[in-house]
Amino acid sequence: MTVVAIDGPAGAGKSTVARAVATRLGFTYLDSGAMYRAVALTALTRGREPAEIADSLHLELVHGVRVDGTDVTQAIRRPEVSEAASEAAADPRVRRAMVAEQRRLLSAGNWVAEGRDIGTVVAPEAEVKVFLTADPEERARRRAAELSLDPAGVLAEQTIRDARDTGREHSPLAPAADAVVLDTTELGFEEAVDRVVTLVAQRLKVS
Ligand code: CDP
Repeated sequence: MTVVAIDGPAGAGKSTVARAVATRLGFTYLDSGAMYRAVALTALTRGREPAEIADSLHLELVHGVRVDGTDVTQAIRRPEVSEAASEAAADPRVRRAMVAEQRRLLSAGNWVAEGRDIGTVVAPEAEVKVFLTADPEERARRRAAELSLDPAGVLAEQTIRDARDTGREHSPLAPAADAVVLDTTELGFEEAVDRVVTLVAQRLKVS
């Protein structure tokens, strides 16, 4: 079993890089943020508290994202769900349920897992830990282009979400002590993928 942990803030390129690294290595990709998004969206649509439902949802993450059989792949990417996911993720009861499920998944097979706390909390024993980051303006520009939104609005929302994710009491967003920090502000996508794949090759060779 090998885990490559890729953590970092919104818009740093985690999803794109993690997916490409997983494909290159033949590992399975885990988007832990999609789980927090799915809980937050379902709480909104059902008029419940995220913590009340987090334990009992049936989440499927292999082909798109499904909650209790309903396809939410597109809906979880809406900006209001980003905000709700960040709020839900600050609740330790929600985190406990998600982390338990993530650990269960990662316990067998080879994974590239992305999120905020993979290297620090979910899989502190991960063979490779990368903290992917970039300047806030560049991250907002990328996210705005991806979703066809206004960059200034995205930057404003991102600033609030970054502050909540790094300032929360439980599992705040921070690089693990043994993570390699990769700043993608001026690093091309292919280069970022190459660097992570090279790191994995080096680590697995010596162990
Ligand atoms: O794609 P983006 O970086 O915008 O967000 P995401 O990775 O889908 O995560 C959405 C929210 O879930 C984040 O703002 C975090 O608050 C939370 N999250 C978390 O707390 N822990 C994780 N391992 C993954 C996401």
